[in-house]
Amino acid sequence: MSKQDDRTLAYQYDEMIPPGKDFRSREVVEAYDAYHRRFRDIEQENATLISALGLQPTQTIADFGCGTGAFALQAARCCARVHAVDVSRAMLDYLEWKAGAEGVTRVTCHHGGFLTYVHEDSPLDVIVSSMALHHLPDFWKQKALLRLNAMLRPGGKLFLADVVFSENNCEENIAGWIREMKARAGADVEADLKSHLCTEFSTFAWIMEGLLARAGFRIDKAEHTKGVLAKYYCTKMA
Ligand SMILES: C[S@@+](CC[C@H](N)C(=O)[O-])C[C@H]1O[C@@H](n2cnc3c(N)ncnc32)[C@H](O)[C@@H]1O
Repeated sequence: MSKQDDRTLAYQYDEMIPPGKDFRSREVVEAYDAYHRRFRDIEQENATLISALGLQPTQTIADFGCGTGAFALQAARCCARVHAVDVSRAMLDYLEWKAGAEGVTRVTCHHGGFLTYVHEDSPLDVIVSSMALHHLPDFWKQKALLRLNAMLRPGGKLFLADVVFSENNCEENIAGWIREMKARAGADVEADLKSHLCTEFSTFAWIMEGLLARAGFRIDKAEHTKGVLAKYYCTKMA
C-alpha cells in the first residue's frame, strides 16, 4: 500500500464531516471572506506567501482546505495549475463561482481532503494549507502529512499555517488571544474561537514539528505568533 493510498483502513477517520463550524452551510460559506477580513488581511497574507514561495509560471501546486479560494485564485495568476482541495462542496461551489467571475481558469477543484484526495497529476511542486489541518486529530494529521509528502516531487515545498500552541505560557497566550480577538473582531468571533478550542484539534508546536519531521519534511523556517499561531515553510527530504 503506498503512503498516499491507505484509504482502506477498517477504522478510517471520516474527514468529510469535520468538527466545529459547519463549512458545508452555504450561509457560512458566503459570509466567510467578510468574516475573516475582520481579523486578517487576506490579500496581503497571500501576496507575502506567494512571494516567499517564489511561485513560478511552470509550477503545479495544491491548496488543502482551500475554503473560498482566496489563496488558490491569487496563486493561479502566477503558476500553471492550482489543485484546490476541500471537503466542503459548498466551499468549492463558491470558489468555482468566484473563479468564473474573475476569469481565472487555472484552478481545478477537488471534493476531498487530506486523507481522501488522490493526486493523479504529475508530482506537485508546492502544497499549501492554511487553517485546515487542525480539523484532524493528531494521529490523522500524521497520516495526512505522509500523504502530502508522497504527492510532492523531491525537494518540493510544503507551507502549513494553523493554530499551534507554543509550550510556554500556553493558557496565558490563549487568554490574551481570546481578549484580542474579541476587541478586534467582536463577540461572535470570540465565541467561535472558544468553540474551536473545545471541539477542534489544534495541537502543540512540539507535536506539529515532530509530525512534520516524521512525515519526511525539513522545517526551513517556523514563525510563531503570540504563542497561538504558527507558519511552517518546509521542504520534502530526499
Ligand atoms: C478555516 S477554513 C480555512 C480556509 C482557507 N484555507 C483560509 O485560510 O481561509 C478551513 C477549511 O478546511 C476545510 N477542511 C476541513 N477538514 C478538511 C480536511 N480533512 N481536508 C481538507 N479540507 C478540510 C473546511 O471545509 C474549510 O473550508
